[in-house]
Order: sequence, then structure tokens, then C-alpha cells
Amino acid sequence: MSWGVRTGTASVERVDGMDFPDDFLWGAATAAYQIEGSPLADGAGASIWHRFCHTPGMVRDGDTGDVACDHYHRWPEDIALMRRLGLQSYRFSIAWGRVLPQGTGAVNEAGLDFYERLVDGLLEAGIAPNATLYHWDLPAALDDCGGWLNRDSADWFAEYAERVFRRLDGRVKMWTTLNEPWVVMDGGYLSGALAPGHRNLYEAPIVAHNLLRAHGKAVQAYRASGAHRIGLVVNLEPKYPASDALQDRAATRRAHAYMNRHFMDPVFRGRYDEVLVQMFGAAWPSFPASDLELIRTPIDFLGINYYTRNVVRDDGGRFPLPVDRPVQPGATYSETGWEVFPQGLLDTLNWVRTRYGNPPVYITENGSAFYDPPVAQGGAVHDPLRMHYLRQHLRVLRQAIADGCDLRGYYAWSLLDNLEWAHGYSKRFGLVHVDFQNQRRTLKDSGAHYARVIASNGQCLFDEV
Ligand code: BGC
Repeated sequence: MSWGVRTGTASVERVDGMDFPDDFLWGAATAAYQIEGSPLADGAGASIWHRFCHTPGMVRDGDTGDVACDHYHRWPEDIALMRRLGLQSYRFSIAWGRVLPQGTGAVNEAGLDFYERLVDGLLEAGIAPNATLYHWDLPAALDDCGGWLNRDSADWFAEYAERVFRRLDGRVKMWTTLNEPWVVMDGGYLSGALAPGHRNLYEAPIVAHNLLRAHGKAVQAYRASGAHRIGLVVNLEPKYPASDALQDRAATRRAHAYMNRHFMDPVFRGRYDEVLVQMFGAAWPSFPASDLELIRTPIDFLGINYYTRNVVRDDGGRFPLPVDRPVQPGATYSETGWEVFPQGLLDTLNWVRTRYGNPPVYITENGSAFYDPPVAQGGAVHDPLRMHYLRQHLRVLRQAIADGCDLRGYYAWSLLDNLEWAHGYSKRFGLVHVDFQNQRRTLKDSGAHYARVIASNGQCLFDEV
């Protein structure tokens, strides 16, 4: 399926007379390095993000995750906030280096204890934990051995995953291997904007492949011991040609293969897209067929992170994506420069349904950074743009279900304002405002709206506002 030219603002159809399924899961998501703080506490080993943030010039304003939202200490307060929102599930990630400070070998029980306390606290509050094993924070000790470039990384990851499963499976019933392997590859090893900050075309396909192998091995390890569900989280961004010109259409196919099919085709179809092989040319290695068998080990669900779309115009040059993102007249853009385009979420869900056999899907991240003041004035944060974004994206979910997508739940990104990676604390995505001077949390209007959505199982999305 290819997406046609679509410009301008999205129009979202209203689906009358249809409710969200009773068991539709409403949640919110975070990631360890972005919120926890105390990255070296209680015997934890440093991660590549700790190192990256402490390297001058890599992160805006020299911000680090040393304190972040201090969730490492304030998790009970954060669970209370989740209850206030009415969350049914909470998606968080586990810091590999807290569990295995050197990445492999000796286990740091204190690290596992932290996550055990968190999981027990969630269960007591009636919130289902959804744990991600890898949200970008590779132990620095493993980076010293080549990180994801090392073929052994798949075994390192499976060893770590098994340790965590052994301690927490039974209480955690929803697992994710990797969060957004495309971003790890593109940001970490090609553009260099994210840790570990490499810029090397030849490294990118190797890293992608090892991440996929690591995912496959962890799923197999889980099948051997775990009793619940395990999946993968990818970020998908639909690509639309800026015009009907042949060059724009070809650039769109490349952009789509590079970002969306790079990880989906191997996992669901056991092969890489030919377009990728052509794009990377001499930088594309040959991979053993048995690797692809491992990679396509069946998963129980797919997590999709959706933020924006990309209108593609060929610019004749830069690799691997010789494309331009022309500004769309009349569109709203968030603080990260991303176009607000809810129709793209619907198109993405329908693309997954038709191309990959309608797997069970959760939206595992969706949200927006808009400006909020650093200090909540009068105990409130009015964020109409974020609220509008949330509402518009939630409304299309019901259309997706009506179209036949096996959509099981939605996690807003993010529960809390947090360290937005290389942007530091300058971009706020939270439903809950965090004052980073004193760690005070304040529910934003968007958070209050989300609480109403959950309480009405989505009904209030279709009320007049
Ligand atoms: C990541 C989050 C990030 C969010 C907003 C996703 O790519 O999983 O960690 O904060 O996008 O940029």
C-alpha cells in the first residue's frame, strides 16, 4: 500500500454509535533515563546516555538525567498521580545497567529490587505494569565492547532479559523487548544526534540487524520461561509525496522503506525490503538467512509510537534520505517541529492491518511538546494545544477500530515532563507538569481531560467542547 498526496489539515470522520471495546486499555508511558534520576545509585552501572549527557556539547544546556523527575525516589507519589488519572496500565522501561552494571555477568539485586517495588506498587494501585527492557540506555561497559555493532549484543540482551523475566514475570504480564530500534540506529549510529553519537553509514544496517537479533533472542528466551505476552515497539511515520512527480514518489518509497519497513518487514515477513539494499549499496552487508528466522519469531503484540507524518520532497542529494520536509500551509507544528496530523495515525494503523496481517496493536506512545511555563501558575497548567492534539488522535482510534484494526489500547506520551534526550528539559510532553526546580507535579488541563476520557471509556471524546 502506498499513501497518496495529502496536504492540509486532517479531516477525521466521526464514528457514530460505536464505543471503545470494554477491555480497551488506557495508559501512559515513560522511560527510565528520562525520569528516574540517580542513574548510578545503589550499585548501578553507567549507561551510554549518562556518558553522552556528561560529554560537553551533546545535550542542550548541558542537561543530564542525574536528577530528572527524581522518580527513583518519588515513584509512590507518581503512582498516586496515575491513580488520579485513572490509568489502567503504565508503560515504563527498565535500566539495563541497574540490573547488570557491567551489562553481563553479576546481577545487582538492588537494581531489580527497585523495579520490584515499583511493580508491586502499581499492582496495589490496580494498574497493570507494561515493562520495556530497552529504551536506549545501553550499559556503557557494553559500548566499550562495540555496543550494538558487536554481534554478541544479541546474547548480552537475552541474558539481561532472562534475569528480569525470572524476577518479575508473573507480576508483569506485558513485556516489550526494544523501544524504537529505528531511532537507536538512525539517531545513535547515523545522524549522531543521540547516544552513542556515531555518524557512520556502514554501521547503521549492522546495528539495525543486531537489534533485531537481540529482539528475537529475547522473545525466544521468554517463550522458554515466561507465561504472558511479549512484543516489540516501533515508531512509524507515514510518508506522503509532496507532489505526483516521479522523483517525489521515489523519494517517498525510500523514506518509507528506511523508517517504516526496515524493522517491520523482517519481524513480520522474515526479509528486508529490496529498496533498502539498493539505498545502502556497498554499506549493506549480507546477513545469514538463519538470522531472519530468529528475527521473525512470532510476537504477541506490536506497539506503535506515532507522533507525526512526513511529506516527502526529493532534494536530489543527501543520503540515506535525500528528502526535504516542506512546511504544510495551515498546519499546526509542535515545539519539536512536528506537524500535527491525526489522519496519519489512522493511515498507519490501516497500513499495519493490511500489510502485516492485522496483529494485535497498542499505541504505546503518542503525544506532543508544546510550550508550558517552567512554573505552574496558580496550581494549574492550561495547555489547549496539547489537549487538542490528544483529543484529535484519540478520536481516530475509534475509526481505526471501525475499519477492523485489532487495536487493544493506548498509552499517552508522557506521564511526566521529562528529559527529552538531546533537547534536555526544553521540551515538555507531560500530562503532568514538573517544576524541575522543586520537583512539584501539577496536573495539566490535558491530563484532566485524559482522566475524563478514561473514566468515560472514550465517550467524552465525541461530546461537544
Ligand atoms: C521516544 C521517547 C521520546 C518521544 C518524544 C519517542 O521517540 O520513545 O523517549 O521522548 O519519542 O520525542
